[in-house]
Amino acid sequence: MTDVRAIVGAHFGARDGELLVGGIPVVEIADRFGTPVYIYSADVIDAKLGRLRRALPADFDVHYSVKANPSQVILRHLLRRGCGLEVASSGELHQALVAGCDPARILFAGPGKTDSELRFALDSRIGEIHAESLGEIARLASAARQIGARGRVAVRVNPGPEVEGGALRMGGKPSPFGIDEELLDSAVELIEREEGLEFGGLHFYLGSQILDHQVLVRQYRGCLETAFLLTQRTGRPIPTVDFGGGFGIPYFQHEQELDVELLGQDLGMLTASARGRAGLAETRFVVEPGRYLVGEAGVYVARVNTVKRSRGRTFVVVDGGMNHHLAASGNLGQVIRRNLPVALINKLGDPDGEKADIVGPLCTPLDTLARDLPLPQPEPGDLVGIFQSGAYARSASPLGFLSHPAPPEVWVREGECHLARRRGRLEDAVLDQMDPLL
Ligand SMILES: Cc1ncc(COP(=O)(O)O)c(C=O)c1O
Repeated sequence: MTDVRAIVGAHFGARDGELLVGGIPVVEIADRFGTPVYIYSADVIDAKLGRLRRALPADFDVHYSVKANPSQVILRHLLRRGCGLEVASSGELHQALVAGCDPARILFAGPGKTDSELRFALDSRIGEIHAESLGEIARLASAARQIGARGRVAVRVNPGPEVEGGALRMGGKPSPFGIDEELLDSAVELIEREEGLEFGGLHFYLGSQILDHQVLVRQYRGCLETAFLLTQRTGRPIPTVDFGGGFGIPYFQHEQELDVELLGQDLGMLTASARGRAGLAETRFVVEPGRYLVGEAGVYVARVNTVKRSRGRTFVVVDGGMNHHLAASGNLGQVIRRNLPVALINKLGDPDGEKADIVGPLCTPLDTLARDLPLPQPEPGDLVGIFQSGAYARSASPLGFLSHPAPPEVWVREGECHLARRRGRLEDAVLDQMDPLL
């Protein structure tokens, strides 16, 4: 079960009722850098990466999925700790290269890669391009011919619907992602026929936010079976099997954290027996988590402007909203709207009073960050913290909506905080635009 108290206890701590990040009171960080602000803890990322690495079999390579949070500080931190990166656009590829990632440690997935993105990836000699359609393989081949480069291409598989070992595999549905398993042989043939392309292996990505380790184990078993059957048909080994991301973190009261230790034990047995099979003995195993590594490391903090009562309901109005945190507003694909872990982080020790809605400054009722939330007495100047905001908070929010300057990002490491990204400026909203009279 997760709630604010559990998260604060596990990752942050509090002093005199005030939240600490890396030992520093968030009240001080908010005063120094202003609000709204995203704050990230290096310690939490280290704890998550360490736990995952200890749990997974030693022969698993971890590539951080940049889409979860592409901040340079986070990329550089994870690179220093030996992670590779998984990118899904030329923007992310650029960010990965600027962060100093060895191109050989970059994987590039995504269903809509343009010709120029394919050329950029080939030109940069990245580790692997994940092909999502037969058409994309053909375009890759012609891009490779055009620029005289050689590219390593893995096939992202959209698995078939078969049942194995009593466990229903994910997939079996039409999908814009990956190549239908029925077409796998044609895809591999297409790659191998091309002078400029080399077959890199198989890539899977079968779901996000998975908290039940057995679901992941069933999926991975299916991935290995697909890989094994391919080796049997082609008679050749598979260089890489990338199992994707999808490791979840708990956001809501009823959710339990993913048991990565049990996951690791089961995967250890699974991959040990896979190693005994022809064609998989030397295969490199990869996972590409995003949320699991950085989600719990981030807190989004906004300041209360106004406490307003309207017809018996209390609205706590803060200076940032769904433009910075779409997921908190329940508009990032959630089926049931529930509150993320949210609290008045300068009053953690105070008893809860009446319930209130926390709303942002945007002119839409969608801009509600929490509903019916029991809170200590809220006052202007208080700080609202939304926990579990290190992944898909800034990176998955409509930052341009209503032209509020984008919040800064603060990086807390070894007891010190650093400005990792400055606050957007008012002029940023017009800077890139052409003068319409020209
Ligand atoms: C191809 C691919 N890899 C990795 C990830 C990261 O997933 P997660 O953050 O759930 O681990 C995603 C997320 O959408 C993805 O599409």
